[in-house]
Amino acid sequence: MRLNNKVAIITGAAKGIGYAAAERFIEEGAVVFIADYDNEAGIAAAGQLGEKAAFIQVDVANRESVKQLVATVIEQAGQIDILVNNAGITRDAMLTKMTEDQFQQVLDVNLTGVFHCTQEVIPHMVAARGGKIINTSSVSGVYGNVGQTNYAATKAAIVGMTKTWAKELGRKGINVNAVAPGFTETDMVKKMPENILAQMRSIVPLQRLGTPRDIANAYLFLASDEASYVHGHTLHVDGAIMM
Ligand code: CAA
Ligand code: NAI
Repeated sequence: MRLNNKVAIITGAAKGIGYAAAERFIEEGAVVFIADYDNEAGIAAAGQLGEKAAFIQVDVANRESVKQLVATVIEQAGQIDILVNNAGITRDAMLTKMTEDQFQQVLDVNLTGVFHCTQEVIPHMVAARGGKIINTSSVSGVYGNVGQTNYAATKAAIVGMTKTWAKELGRKGINVNAVAPGFTETDMVKKMPENILAQMRSIVPLQRLGTPRDIANAYLFLASDEASYVHGHTLHVDGAIMM
C-alpha cells in the first residue's frame, strides 16, 4: 500500500494510460480524482473504479475550469498529495499541411494545461510542505516524430518545465519528475495509419507496444516515497525504441 492516505489528481484519467494509473494508485491505497474533459467516459471510469475514485469534469486548457477542479478536490478531500499531468491530445499533420488551429490546440492542452494544473495545485503542496508532480512527456518529444511538429514541441517542453520546476520546488519538499512513454496501446495510437504503427512496433527491441499499465507503474514509482530522491528526471518507458 505505497499510496495509503494519499490524494491524487490524475488528468485525462477517463481512459488509456490515465485510467490505468487511477486503477494502480487505488490498488496502492490512494483516493483518486479523475480529471477529464470527457464527461461520459469519466463517469463510467469512476463507476468502474469504485468508492476511492471520483470524477470531476475539467478542461485543462481553461484556467477557470482548473481552478474549479482544485477547489472541489480541496473541499472534498482536504489535501492534494499527487498531481499527474497526463491529459494530452494529438492533431498530427506534416509541417507543410499543419494548420494554425492544429498547432494551437495541442499547445493549449499539452503545454498550457500542464502549466495551469501545476500552478493551481502548488500552493496546496507548499502549505503541506510536500507533494509529487508527475508530467507526461513522450518518445516524440525526446527524439522527434514525423507528423508531430505541435505534439513533439509540447512533449520536449515538458522535459524543460520538469527540470525548471525541480529547481524551483525542491526546497519546498516537492518532487517533480516526468515519464516519457513510447508507443502505448490506447485510443491515441489507434488513430495512426496501421503501416506506420507496425513500423514503430518492429523497431522496439522488446517487439511490442507498451501497455497502459507499463506506464502507470512508472507513474506509481515516481508518486511513491521510494522515489523521494529522484528529482527533475524524465523516465523513459518505451521498450528502448530509439536506443
Ligand atoms: N517516417 C518516415 N516517413 C514518413 C513517416 C515516418 N514515420 N510517416 C510518413 N512519412 C512519409 C510518407 O511515406 C510520405 O512520403 P512521400 O511523400 O515520399 O510519399 C510523406 O511522409 C507524407 O506522408 P502521408 O502520405 O501519410 O501524408 P499525409 O499528409 O496523408 O499524413 C500524417 C501525414 C498525418 C503525419 C500521417 O502520416 C500520420 O498520421 N502519421 C503518424 C504520425 C504519428 O506517428 N503519430 C503518433 C500518434 S501516437 C502519439 O502521439 C503518442 C506518442 O506520444 C508516441
Ligand atoms: P488517450 O487519448 O487514450 O486519453 C487521453 C485522455 O485525456 C482522454 O480521456 C481525454 O478525454 C483526456 N483529455 C483530452 N483533452 C483534455 C482536456 N483538455 N482536459 C482534460 N482532459 C483531456 O491518451 P493516452 O494514450 O492515454 O495518453 C495519455 C498521455 O500519455 C498523454 O499526455 C499522451 O500524450 C501521453 N503519451 C501517450 C503515448 C501513447 O502511445 N499512447 C505515448 C507517449 C505519451
